[in-house]
Amino acid sequence: LNADHVTSIASLLSTPSSSLLTTISTSDSSIPTADASDLESFNTDWMNKYKGQSPLIVKPKSTKEVADVVKYCYEHGIAVVPQGGNTGLVGGGVPPKSTKEVADVVKYCYELGIAVVPQGGNTGLMLDNHVGEKGYMMPLDLGAKGSCHIGGNVATNAGGLRFLRYGSLHGNVLGLEVVLPDGRILDGLSTLRKDNTGFDLKQLFIGSEGSIGLITGVSIVTPRRPAAFNVSVFGLNSFEAVQKLFPKVKASLGEILSAFEFFDAHAMSLVKGHATAGVKDPFEAAHPFYVLIETGGSNKDHDDEKLSALLEELIEDEWVDDGVLAENTTQISQLWALRESIPEAAGKAGRVYKYDLSMPVEKMNELVEEMRSRFESKGILGADKMFSSVVGYGHIGDGNLHINIVAKEYSDEAEREIEPFIYEWTSNVNGSISAEHGLGRMKAEKIGYSKSDESVRIMQDLKKLFDPKGIFNPHKYLPGA
Ligand code: FAD
Ligand code: MLT
Ligand code: ZN
Repeated sequence: LNADHVTSIASLLSTPSSSLLTTISTSDSSIPTADASDLESFNTDWMNKYKGQSPLIVKPKSTKEVADVVKYCYEHGIAVVPQGGNTGLVGGGVPPKSTKEVADVVKYCYELGIAVVPQGGNTGLMLDNHVGEKGYMMPLDLGAKGSCHIGGNVATNAGGLRFLRYGSLHGNVLGLEVVLPDGRILDGLSTLRKDNTGFDLKQLFIGSEGSIGLITGVSIVTPRRPAAFNVSVFGLNSFEAVQKLFPKVKASLGEILSAFEFFDAHAMSLVKGHATAGVKDPFEAAHPFYVLIETGGSNKDHDDEKLSALLEELIEDEWVDDGVLAENTTQISQLWALRESIPEAAGKAGRVYKYDLSMPVEKMNELVEEMRSRFESKGILGADKMFSSVVGYGHIGDGNLHINIVAKEYSDEAEREIEPFIYEWTSNVNGSISAEHGLGRMKAEKIGYSKSDESVRIMQDLKKLFDPKGIFNPHKYLPGA
């Protein structure tokens, strides 16, 4: 490779089919740069919070091309930022629009339910549709499935809406192909479910957020797609009721429960006021909290019977104040939209400070209320104030709270009203400052709230081992990176 070759890689910007996207930032003015307007979207994150300054986007079409580009960058000391769908929420990367057809990219999906995906350009939704034709599903489901890439999902170790049932990508990913920062290809696309030979290197790349390698292929377990889904949403009058409901529902529905999500009345108002058309509140009266449950099983009659018996008991014995049950797939989507459109609705309401925390379930709402009363006592919460709303929602089944604080503008002053208070609070209850979104640019320097100094030092040593020149995703993920 030489500088001319890099020019031709940059010119691929205009081609519609993308496989992987690599942003290269360089201070070397001898390397030609793409047109500024083309770069805008790649340099802006989903929340419009972080701006990048990469002068060059590269769209390699094969693992070999990725390796060639990365090797060139390694030799010339050029920084590399891997990018997928740019739906990350912590400032890790920026977006392409993928048009690649999925049909030719899943190599195997056989009786063990394993898909091997050369990941370029494949969104979660495309893959789910593809394996769905064979009776399987992706184990990961999230609101961004129409845009995020499987490589980005693995790089962020995304959790999502069905984590409760299908578990972490640390368990579902069987193998990875990764281009290392010096251009070497780590060929580990295993389809073995069991393999106890040596260190399990792929685990290091799951959740590494593009800091030590670029994932070019993923082998993943795809569970059987349930024959029948049911979705129900309840209105509840307290967070304690939400808390008590989870073990009750789990005990009653057992193996068919696939999601247990909550959102508060403030989230519901945002959705009603700002989400896309078609989102409707199915309740006559407002409730302080809402819970969405989903079941997925292999026998519809059996699931319906179990669920009806539970719903009757929940209403009769006042576990919940009100409840609705979807009667068809359209209603299932409408009920899911109430929960899934919260991030989008918050984004339409203003600039969003987004926190994604793990903590004991009983602490979740305490933090949300404390944040609200803190702002209220300072007179900075309300229409036309610094912050217009504080909303709580998340994955109760995984102990994962999302707090979205909607501000008029992003500013240092606004950030100081939230941080470090929110991180200290979380650390004091032995929680994690990132349950699933990762660290990115936003939290690279904050990892100490959740990990010991010794753990961070070992992570920094690992980063040096894989990326001695520090060219992969600089200034993100770890302190001093
Ligand atoms: P990008 O945003 O492009 O990149 C994210 C990070 O991964 C960056 O650091 C980037 O450098 C790195 N990266 C990307 N591709 C590669 C690669 N091939 N190799 C190495 N590194 C790479 N997350 C959850 O966990 N649960 C949710 O429920 C959830 N819901 C969401 C809903 C919405 C509406 C949105 C916008 C986001 C949501 N997310 C959720 C955030 C989540 O992190 C991303 O949606 C997704 O996993 C990122 O994939 P991406 O392809 O967009 O990656
Ligand atoms: C979610 O659960 O909706 C996602 O993690 C995205 C978000 O919180 O913005
Ligand atoms: Zn989430």
